Amino acid sequence: MKIGMLTGGGDCPGLNPAIRGAVLRLLDYGDEVIGFTQGWKGLVEGNTEPLTLERVEGIIDQGGTILRSSRTNPFAAGKEAQLEGVLANLKKFELDALIALGGEDTLGVASKLWTQYGIKTVGVPKTMDNDLSLTDYTFGFDSAASVALESIDRLRDTARSHDRVIVVEIMGRHAGWTALWAGVAGGADWVAIPEVPLDMDAMCKHLQANYARGKTFGIVAVSEGVEIAGAQKAADAALDAFGHHQLGEVGIGPAIAKEIEKRTGIPTRDAVLGHVVRGGSPTLFDRILGTRVGIKAAELVHEGKFGVMVAQQGTEILAVPIEDAVKQWKLVPQALYDEFVTTFNK
Ligand code: F6P
Repeated sequence: MKIGMLTGGGDCPGLNPAIRGAVLRLLDYGDEVIGFTQGWKGLVEGNTEPLTLERVEGIIDQGGTILRSSRTNPFAAGKEAQLEGVLANLKKFELDALIALGGEDTLGVASKLWTQYGIKTVGVPKTMDNDLSLTDYTFGFDSAASVALESIDRLRDTARSHDRVIVVEIMGRHAGWTALWAGVAGGADWVAIPEVPLDMDAMCKHLQANYARGKTFGIVAVSEGVEIAGAQKAADAALDAFGHHQLGEVGIGPAIAKEIEKRTGIPTRDAVLGHVVRGGSPTLFDRILGTRVGIKAAELVHEGKFGVMVAQQGTEILAVPIEDAVKQWKLVPQALYDEFVTTFNK
């Protein structure tokens, strides 16, 4: 068979182990594998590179994606020429199937290609946001949360040395998974996530109470999608090709830091981690998950199962309909947040 592969949307550690896992399994079947570069843009323009054993054998520890990425959306209004390019190139390269590695946007395109045009697609879920439904985890999340955790550990050193509060802003879009995991593991004094409205009064009182009982520093972990009264809102930020607001622009971490200092008088600083958390070598967890979902994607192609996304449920790696996986975000449940509150609300 001739199989195409692409990586779309924001990069994250785990993509290269997944590409490697899929290619190694496809080579077992005797397939030819070609990579389209820069996500759907590569299919629009017909830009490819061969994915051989030599190309993938040394990439398991590399962050990012060897295929490069973009946020090209061939189904965007007014971009009909892009969709025509995708369909023409799928024919031109005589592909038997396409494996798309991405988040809700990239997989949404793969799903539409299957349901509307019968293009044989298999999706592999990736995102540091961990917000895809029907899979317990997406690779990229553990690596990003680990970088955020290390950053919090470093910021605690300086917060403690200067008797300061430091507000750490962490990416994650509308889902608070990364901030919650890194914040709790980093012993944060408060974690603010988009799913739970921030009680500014309670947080400031809590930070003051800490100082009153002799703790002379504070760490507040804030997910980029949090909103507070008086600060810029997500809806004011620019949109990307898939219609998502670019939340990094909002600057919620700095806004919360200012508010804390104003209300409490405690010297407060902010650190916006931004894309730093998406870089670096994949963690052990993400290398294993990436490898497993990559292998499974190759197997699904050979079982003739299309329009599906590989998912991890418990210890199983299985297939679920892409359509169902991208229908709604997997957000942090209130009960899970409440379970952790006891660790930071002291
Ligand atoms: O979806 C992954 C993510 O890293 C989000 O957490 C973040 O809001 C967004 O991508 C940033 O996008 P970009 O890389 O296009 O700036």
